[in-house]
Amino acid sequence: MRILLHRRGGVTAPWIDGFAAALPQAQVVVWHEGEPVAPCDYAVLFAPPMAMIADLQHVKAIFLTGAGADEIMKVAHQLPAVPIVRLADAGMAEQMVDYVVYAVLRYFRRFDQFDVQARSKVWNLLPLHDKADFTVGLLGPGVLGKPVLDALKALGFPMRCWSRTPKEIAGVQCFTGSMQLDDFLRGTRIVVCMLPLTADTQALLDHARLSLLAPGAYVINVGRGGHVVDDDLLALIKSGQIAGATLDVFSTEPLPQSHPFWDEARISITPHAAALTLAAPSVDQIAAKIRTMERGDAIGDLVDLQRGY
Ligand code: NDP
Ligand code: OXD
Repeated sequence: MRILLHRRGGVTAPWIDGFAAALPQAQVVVWHEGEPVAPCDYAVLFAPPMAMIADLQHVKAIFLTGAGADEIMKVAHQLPAVPIVRLADAGMAEQMVDYVVYAVLRYFRRFDQFDVQARSKVWNLLPLHDKADFTVGLLGPGVLGKPVLDALKALGFPMRCWSRTPKEIAGVQCFTGSMQLDDFLRGTRIVVCMLPLTADTQALLDHARLSLLAPGAYVINVGRGGHVVDDDLLALIKSGQIAGATLDVFSTEPLPQSHPFWDEARISITPHAAALTLAAPSVDQIAAKIRTMERGDAIGDLVDLQRGY
């Protein structure tokens, strides 16, 4: 069995070692532009370079080294009709919980304001926010979003979520579909975006929708940069209607030096670091699915090309 591997950034050793241990019968072939490749059975990649597409025509499945399918969707029409499989958690959910809980508490407990005061050696007690008034609205309670929802609920925040299909989650107000999006946003004090980027969710958080959030709302985006209309978010922060944002993902990554987000102190920026792909659990998950396919059984976590995630 031959597995064709492409890793952005080029760190392949932990993947090669991992597959050697998990699938000793497999030969891992690292894809390099310009080097001819004999047909492979499976491909493991995230955003294939254009020159790689020709080498994917004979694979039985394409395994993504990430949770989001937006990059592969851009070239889906050039791929063979084989299962495209995304990572489900593989160590990312715990990282997302840490990241989002920190960002929520940092804003709720005013650490951002205390940091500003401390830079000017100001000792000034600020009033405590009322948690009952701090409804957190999570867009996308999926594999990664649901554990975040659970963690914030356990901390006592009033929680609501918005998904494509209906959900029933104890102690959480659940909203579904475009008809209920405005109701979800109204009254939300901290909005956390954990959606996949699809035709339906592109530019979802624009001026009109962000304006529905409670006054002084806070935005946390760990989904994709394309979910937020940058100029609209910036304008609402400048006007004071939105208090600030923690952003991990951007329409252009790395975020260009000239982007105005860098100059807005109320925006905290991290470099797409909320949840990193971990080689060991990812290889284990992919290897288990390859074994299942080789037995002739069905696998889960397939990307649905119609819905886009
Ligand atoms: P899932 O597919 O498990 O969950 C997606 C969630 O979004 C589901 O609840 C789904 O609803 C909901 N959703 C999708 N489309 C719509 C829509 N049109 N309207 C309403 N709800 C919608 O994905 P994951 O939780 O595994 O990952 C989510 C995203 O997180 C990834 O796609 C990626 O963009 C991002 N990500 C970011 C990382 C980072 O480091 N910043 C790292 C990893 C992922 P339903 O339940 O009804 O299907
Ligand atoms: C992913 C990501 O989708 O890293 O896994 O953003």
